[in-house]
Amino acid sequence: MPLVTTTKMFKDAYEGGYAVGAFNVNNMEIIQGIVAAGKKLNAPLILQVSKGARAYANHLYLVKLVEAAVEESGLPIALHLDHGPDFETCKACIDGGFTSVMIDGSSLPYEENVALTKKVVDYAHAHGVVVEGELGQLAGVEDEVSVNAEDASYTNPDQVEDFVKRTGVDSLAIAIGTSHGAYKFKPGQKPQLRFDILEEVSKRLPGFPIVLHGASSVIPEFVEEINKYGGSMPDAIGIPEDMLRQAATMAVCKINIDSDLRLAMTAAIRKHFVEHPSDFDPRQYLRPARDAIEGMVEHKINTVLGCAGKA
Ligand code: G3H
Ligand code: 13P
Ligand code: ZN
Repeated sequence: MPLVTTTKMFKDAYEGGYAVGAFNVNNMEIIQGIVAAGKKLNAPLILQVSKGARAYANHLYLVKLVEAAVEESGLPIALHLDHGPDFETCKACIDGGFTSVMIDGSSLPYEENVALTKKVVDYAHAHGVVVEGELGQLAGVEDEVSVNAEDASYTNPDQVEDFVKRTGVDSLAIAIGTSHGAYKFKPGQKPQLRFDILEEVSKRLPGFPIVLHGASSVIPEFVEEINKYGGSMPDAIGIPEDMLRQAATMAVCKINIDSDLRLAMTAAIRKHFVEHPSDFDPRQYLRPARDAIEGMVEHKINTVLGCAGKA
């Protein structure tokens, strides 16, 4: 099976009350760990590549690694551009083998977001590629862009029908209180998501797939492990997994997870070096890192996404 778009994945997910995991990939071990978990649980996968990942690993290397994953696993896998910053980057990914792109116009004034998103949709659809747009702004850090909590804004449900109709997007990322990175809430602050906004959006867009960014849970066990083995991540807090599971049973069909993979991988490598201080063969520390990614993705599929057996 070649790379697929997310069209069938999202239709099945919507109807089945589950979500597909969109995992950020930057190198071979991350891809192998995610795909091993997908294979074990027979789950569909979205592998997503950010602007930073393309700059780090090179577009072509990532495409070839993902193509190898598709061939080796036989799973339905979509290759997605995460947070496409402009038309040119989206076009490069559409021309260069991706099956899905996100155009992130969420920081633009509404009419500019509509115009840019529509331009990407027109080009993508003419090439058989699907598009995710975004309305509302998440807090947190991604690449060089950092959004303060005060500048973040929830999605306005009054805008979503107009946005989807005028742009033709295939899915929509919304802001309901998730945020990027490992510091999503202040210590003592009660984590909460605006399920009322999600419900209102899905009423306005019946059957339409919604996307949640910034959906890592920052599982305390991994933060503790990092801190135990010489790291320092005070006050890292994520989205409780039961809230994400609830969202997955609603209109949310794609849940983005990057930070939890980073934490699992970093904890494994830190632990390895403390326990084996004289190791200098990268295979010795990348193997447990890859296993940690596999374990984390398995956990997400079972606990948050509900997409085991849905490939
Ligand atoms: O939302 C952003 C993702 O976590 C990707 O992060 O831009 O550092 O690759 P990155
Ligand atoms: P996290 O930082 O919560 O993993 O979010 C990742 C994300 O939204 C990628 O687009
Ligand atoms: Zn994101």
